[in-house]
Amino acid sequence: MIHCFSGMGNSAAVATRLELVLPRDFADDIWVCPVYSWGIPPVLVRHIETLDLSDRTCHLVCTCGDDTGNIDIQWRKLIESRGGEVGSIFSVRMPNTFVCFPFMNVDSREVTEKKLSEAADRVDAIAAKILSGNRETDIRRGWLPGLKSGVIYPQFFRYGMHAEKFHHTVSCTGCGRCINLCPQKNIARGADGLPEWGADCAFCLRCYHACSTHSVAYGRITAKKGQYLHPDFQWLIKKFKKL
Ligand SMILES: Cc1cc2nc3c(=O)[nH]c(=O)nc-3n(C[C@H](O)[C@H](O)[C@H](O)COP(=O)(O)O)c2cc1C
Repeated sequence: MIHCFSGMGNSAAVATRLELVLPRDFADDIWVCPVYSWGIPPVLVRHIETLDLSDRTCHLVCTCGDDTGNIDIQWRKLIESRGGEVGSIFSVRMPNTFVCFPFMNVDSREVTEKKLSEAADRVDAIAAKILSGNRETDIRRGWLPGLKSGVIYPQFFRYGMHAEKFHHTVSCTGCGRCINLCPQKNIARGADGLPEWGADCAFCLRCYHACSTHSVAYGRITAKKGQYLHPDFQWLIKKFKKL
């Protein structure tokens, strides 16, 4: 069974390809998600913390713009705390979606295309490795993974990101796309017909990237940042509506 959480469709595309390549009766669980601040998205952590995973083997295939830190250590602790057995752990490099800090932006068109074209072979290789039954960890740890995952990750969602910073700008047409697409149902239509953000944000940034008039902003930092959606976002997102 493949479980997937995805903001802009990168992880959903990987999950879809794995589904295509692996046999239908493949018994293990494969969890596919983006890397958030060198760790597992808290929304997914909270979901897994509700599950009984006894007798389940859980593989992780995470997608990252650049590097994963020690995400495997967090995965191991999380799965074992639910009684599950850890399988293989892989990362796939995909176009970057994080734009909320200075100097961080979406990738250029060339880099985006390169990452997407390399990802297909990487996912096929991952599927073959998972099928072989050998347990393996093959992730892009990057520099200072201990600091990134052990120190920055726990602080990132507590102090680094703030749901109340999301707002619409004057160019918002009130089309409701962000409201409809929010995986958390965290955006409501205000009295003026325009979107209002609540506190239950997964920080996936789908509202920002999917806005067709670039009218969703995170503080003032995203005003000049680019937007990115996976080329197959539209149908991928319907396919993986829920975790
Ligand atoms: C809140 C947030 C934090 C992120 N942190 C990281 C990170 O620590 N390392 C990294 O390489 N990419 C990071 N990214 C980029 C995503 O992991 C990457 O673009 C991923 O493929 C997005 O997948 P999705 O479209 O399925 O959401 C982050 C993205 C977001 C939205």
